[in-house]
Amino acid sequence: MLTIIGGSASTYLAYEIARVGGFSTLPIISRVFPDGERYVRILGNVEGMRIAVIQSMYRSPDSYLIEFLLITHTLKELGAKEIIGVIPYFPYARQDTRFNSGEAVSLNIISHLIENSGIDKIITIDMHLHRYSSVSEIFRIPAENLTAMEEIARYLTDNYDLRDPVIIGPDEESEQWAKKVASIIKCDYDILEKRRISAEEVEIVPREVNVKGRDVVIVDDIISTGGTMAEAIKMLLKLGAKRVIGACTHAILAGEALGKIYRAGAYDLIATNTVPSPISVVSIAGLLVRTLKGYE
Ligand code: R5P
Repeated sequence: MLTIIGGSASTYLAYEIARVGGFSTLPIISRVFPDGERYVRILGNVEGMRIAVIQSMYRSPDSYLIEFLLITHTLKELGAKEIIGVIPYFPYARQDTRFNSGEAVSLNIISHLIENSGIDKIITIDMHLHRYSSVSEIFRIPAENLTAMEEIARYLTDNYDLRDPVIIGPDEESEQWAKKVASIIKCDYDILEKRRISAEEVEIVPREVNVKGRDVVIVDDIISTGGTMAEAIKMLLKLGAKRVIGACTHAILAGEALGKIYRAGAYDLIATNTVPSPISVVSIAGLLVRTLKGYE
């Protein structure tokens, strides 16, 4: 039987997974010393146990990463039989190449640290895979990248009376998610073209999209600064969309993201609970439970 440990980034999500899946939980002590160093203690005997460690690495990824490494290495040293690392939001994925000379290819460095931390398997959700077609090209241990788009599509149909809907991906990469959501809702989808000017600024290339008088849902993996969502919303409203709802898996919501998107005219915004936030209304606990049970 699997036991769940929640890192401090995902304490509540870990309890939800345990409750939905009927798994037991194992407590840990995790705190920060006055000098900023992390202290971790596993409370209980883990010898021979199968354990899933849940830690979504959002907003303060460095601190959550260190805590995760301390937990998983310790579980391994204490004789856990199998350790599954569940990292719903996997950080540093967007720095997957050396865009400018001298830059760290962060994704490679972070993924090596994680796969060498004593874990046997890794699960992520809608990991930002730009130059990779699968997570197995990144990790040398078994890895699974789940998608939350089915959960998002179900939430949209259950909670909005969508009229003549169309699903829009704000850029080329988001076509996979727009297509998936559209296939579940059984409606059209299209994508926009985005040019990134800086980390904070994006431009959506103007073009005709058939949204006049229709309900539009924009789907993406991440809302970070909100620039992508805000610019896409402005353009779709200009083209005559009736209501525009923004949906994403990971609501990072850096800085003023929420204000920026609502000011752009969003009718509503939804996200999953991979990252806790005021818009994280779609739970991915069931998706993770089904996957974890599949390994039993
Ligand atoms: C980028 O390609 C991603 O899929 C998202 O569109 C992007 O990370 C969103 O970032 P922001 O909210 O800062 O525009």
